[in-house]
Amino acid sequence: MKLAGKVVIITGGAGGIGKEASVIFANEGAHVVVVDRDPQQVDKVANEVNGLGLAVDVSNREQVDWMVSEVINRYGKIDVLINNAGITMDATLVKMTQEQWDRVISINQTGVFHCTQAVVPHMIREGAGRIINTSSIVGRMGNFGQTNYAASKAAVIAMTQTWAKELGRKGILVNAVAPGFIVTPMTDKMPESVLQGMKEKIALRRLGQPRDVANVYVFLASDEASYINGAVIPVDGGLSI
Ligand code: NAI
Repeated sequence: MKLAGKVVIITGGAGGIGKEASVIFANEGAHVVVVDRDPQQVDKVANEVNGLGLAVDVSNREQVDWMVSEVINRYGKIDVLINNAGITMDATLVKMTQEQWDRVISINQTGVFHCTQAVVPHMIREGAGRIINTSSIVGRMGNFGQTNYAASKAAVIAMTQTWAKELGRKGILVNAVAPGFIVTPMTDKMPESVLQGMKEKIALRRLGQPRDVANVYVFLASDEASYINGAVIPVDGGLSI
């Protein structure tokens, strides 16, 4: 087991990629903290992985602070934070509402800031830690109808690189993954014709599965990745080349 005894917080841990990650991390021996919005979903996944489930909205700082104190009370430390929670609310620039902009930025960007800022003092105390952020191919390439989402995911890359520079000397490694198109509830909303067109642009000619991303989270959390810092790893089957 690669992660025996490690305490791993996974935000969005009840969703497509997050749930798969919760299961894989538990199989690697980690104590998994499943953080997501819906209390029932959180409890279901937490029970499945024999972990701790906390219903929290990452855009709400008070809830995030409560979440971190619960984890510290239970386990006394935090080894890995995976900032995986994210949403889309798509519209073209001209049609995008203020609410669509604010909501996506508050979860995908400010939520990552909240969780990391709340967790990092505990990692500094231990002199070690891993932060793994979930960006997107869209954060580098933009995407039609996703001004808010693309901006938030570009911000995730900028925060990753900034924190890698700030925290490396304290033994904390900060990296990001940039998934392409992964089959989850997030992509279920897309019409079949769009997904088909997408497959033709992917060198591997298939969409990704949640485990394709979750396995990279595990790698970045493991001892094997101890000299990787500030990286943004594409997990897109070659869509971005
Ligand atoms: P998903 O929709 O299946 O899961 C996202 C999870 O985040 C859900 O369980 C949701 O309840 C949770 N969440 C949303 N807002 C939250 C909040 N305020 N507080 C706490 N939890 C919240 O989506 P998926 O595909 O598993 O996405 C995971 C991450 O991967 C997201 O950051 C997404 O942007 C990113 N991503 C996904 C891609 C894909 O093709 N599915 C491609 C690129 C990036």
